[in-house]
Amino acid sequence: MLHGKRILLIIAGGIAAFKSLDLIRRLREQGAHVTPVLTKAAEEFVTPLSVSALAAEKVYRDLFDLTVEHEMGHIELSRAADLVVVAPATSDLLAKMAGGLANDLASTLLMATDKPVLCAPSMNVRMWLHPSNQRNVARLREDGIRFVGPGEGEMACGEYGPGRMAEVPEIIAAVSEVLADGPLKGKHVLVTSGPTHEPIDPVRYIANRSSGTQGTALARALMALGARVTFVTGPASVPPPEGAEVIAVETADQMRAAVLAALPSDAAVFAAAVADWRVVSASDSKIKKDGSGHIPALELAENPDILAEVSKLTENRPGLVVGFAAETNDVTAHATAKRARKGCDWIVANDVSPETGIMGGRENAVTVITGEGAETLPRMSKTEVAEKLATRIAEALS
Ligand code: C5P
Repeated sequence: MLHGKRILLIIAGGIAAFKSLDLIRRLREQGAHVTPVLTKAAEEFVTPLSVSALAAEKVYRDLFDLTVEHEMGHIELSRAADLVVVAPATSDLLAKMAGGLANDLASTLLMATDKPVLCAPSMNVRMWLHPSNQRNVARLREDGIRFVGPGEGEMACGEYGPGRMAEVPEIIAAVSEVLADGPLKGKHVLVTSGPTHEPIDPVRYIANRSSGTQGTALARALMALGARVTFVTGPASVPPPEGAEVIAVETADQMRAAVLAALPSDAAVFAAAVADWRVVSASDSKIKKDGSGHIPALELAENPDILAEVSKLTENRPGLVVGFAAETNDVTAHATAKRARKGCDWIVANDVSPETGIMGGRENAVTVITGEGAETLPRMSKTEVAEKLATRIAEALS
């Protein structure tokens, strides 16, 4: 996703600096090149050696390091990157940035850069909420500085509230969004994926064989074309895509709430295999086999049809709504009827008969049904199916 991108990572002195070590590792896993800069205070939290080892790069620490000036001046350093990330961004550094101070290497680089700057603030809740900090953040936003987080939660100091540095996957998602390039740049796409689990009791549930492979591949393909992806996933067996905003849910009801909360979006792709039914009153305690031979009967109720509901929204309906139809016979006919019934724009139909090995497998064979007719693609990997669909979505949104 971030292949060949150059990131100047400024680590300021906050307790969250330890998360920046993981951030370096994950950015490099995505193919980015990370040049780290440490403030004096940051060195109290992480060592230059560990930062340098993880980045496989020299750590820049001092404005008046003549050797560095000789190798690469601070002006050049501030501009060689595609993006400057400040994580953690402390209230002190934000204040310097808002005031235009340049009295150490980090603040000088931030003054001298002509590249986008993304800050991940981290500080005590009172400091975050302090009027002067809020003023600085508002000023910086006006100046075009981007922010990710802070999150709300338990803080290292024992207090609770906003001020916690965004988690690494969130920062990666924000970085990907800033650096996104491609026909879907600036577009927001919602993807649902995986199965849902409908509880019977605290230890048992109703589920299906969906692995989340196709939905994950779709999210990746959409992001590769520059989209910002919100990925609402049930308990899948493959890891969620890096770079997406991932919202993990269990039940259809939770998936519905997460989908509605994630709107508006330019397009929505419903690749999840949502359970059609849920148990009306799931037991709070484990249902016991009492030895009497009594077999419990499960009363089921229909789950909300999220695809149909979103397709029929009058406000906030995504410009393009794509559903999937897993069928075992008369695939095109059933899927065409489903498209009309649900009110979505496209239906991607696939044959999930057991002999196809498609459900939970690596390959897929799909027919794309739009208002213009049906097109059957040859059997190919789910990654290739995802790339073809993402390209079509990009064309439709252009
Ligand atoms: O009705 P059926 O389950 O075959 O419809 C499949 C399509 O509808 C998929 O796109 C699936 O993600 C979506 N769906 C949904 N909510 C449901 C059931 C299905 O969004 N409750």
